[in-house]
Amino acid sequence: MTRETVFTLEATPIKYGPGASTEAGWELARLGARRVMLLSDPGVIAAGITGRVRDRIEGEGIECVLFDRVGVEPTLESFQEAADFALDGGFDGFVGVGGGSSLDTAKVADLIATHGGEIMEWVNAPVGGGRKLPAPLKPLLAIPTTAGTGSEATTVAVLALPEERAKAGISHRYLRAHQGIVDPELTRSMPAEVTAACGLDVVCHAVESFVARPFDAREAPATPDERPPYQGANPVADIWSGQAIEYGGRYLRRAVADGDDMEARGAMMLGATMAGVGFGSAGTHIPHACSYPVSTLKQAYQPPGYPDDHPFVPHGISVIVTSAAVFRYTFSADPEKHRRAAELLAGEPIPEADENTLPELLLDLMRDVGAPSGLRALGFDEGDVEALVEGTLKQRRLLAVAPREVGPNEVAAILRESMENW
Ligand SMILES: [Fe+2]
Repeated sequence: MTRETVFTLEATPIKYGPGASTEAGWELARLGARRVMLLSDPGVIAAGITGRVRDRIEGEGIECVLFDRVGVEPTLESFQEAADFALDGGFDGFVGVGGGSSLDTAKVADLIATHGGEIMEWVNAPVGGGRKLPAPLKPLLAIPTTAGTGSEATTVAVLALPEERAKAGISHRYLRAHQGIVDPELTRSMPAEVTAACGLDVVCHAVESFVARPFDAREAPATPDERPPYQGANPVADIWSGQAIEYGGRYLRRAVADGDDMEARGAMMLGATMAGVGFGSAGTHIPHACSYPVSTLKQAYQPPGYPDDHPFVPHGISVIVTSAAVFRYTFSADPEKHRRAAELLAGEPIPEADENTLPELLLDLMRDVGAPSGLRALGFDEGDVEALVEGTLKQRRLLAVAPREVGPNEVAAILRESMENW
């Protein structure tokens, strides 16, 4: 095969700092928007955050119509509802305010309003039609209120497909927001358990992308258009991911222990964005592939700290539970990269590391922020392994950048090891 020799770097323009979200209207005016669709979820609206952003937008003389029905875990139906609203509204700009679900729904609403078509046409193959975006979208502003998904920095929108017990994504460089506004003040009211789950997602994004299969181990694409958005580890992604690992190790415990610790909150918010740039380039792999069936197969877990109206597994919990077993398995692919990740997470030199060093540090972090001990605590047992393996192996786009090949037996072993991490 001919090896890849090229990697690309793109990053969303980001505005960061306490109070940065007060500049939302100014940013939209700069981008030329006159009538925008503001997408948010009921929790963020109830916290008063969406209303404050809306005031700032209207203060610039921009018309602002609220769409308040973003799903916590977006599905085709919830994306469609937002897309229909966008098609009917005659908008020339879009604003997502909330967690990854609000930002991803805003991306899809903008996509359908700009280019039309059916949502599934745009979803990555083989699940969807894999159609490529022909031209840029209308101005899109992404304002995260959690320190987690990094969606403000990525080119991806993820949706759950409950019938297929899987998740799928739309990914294309034109799905990138025109501007992200990252304001730590917006996370102040976030409960400790939500802060923990979001922060563990950040740590997974960062570590997964840092140890991902190198971009130049992949086969070269036939045309530039076929170069995958998840390219594999590269020197530039390493800078962003590495810094995010360090912030996760240094600040997540503090942000969970004291929600008013704005230095820690700010660092986690910035860490989420930096990890978004890193994994948006290099990609996530085995823990995220496993997380999709973990979060869609069963509805048996009522997460503390979240609204108690329906059971679900928070995304960050669904990724972190297999991380220790995964990085134990992938260690041999690149011991030096795993050692370096462990060192960044620990915040101190670790000259000698073995396959257990990084996993032990991750488990310490999980315990310290109150994460459940493994898949069993989420309602799974050995009888579920087969279905979980099947769902994991469907995530081919993610597994393509795994540092070590995984087949059904390896995934099953990882899942069994992750039933009880302690
Ligand atoms: Fe994630």
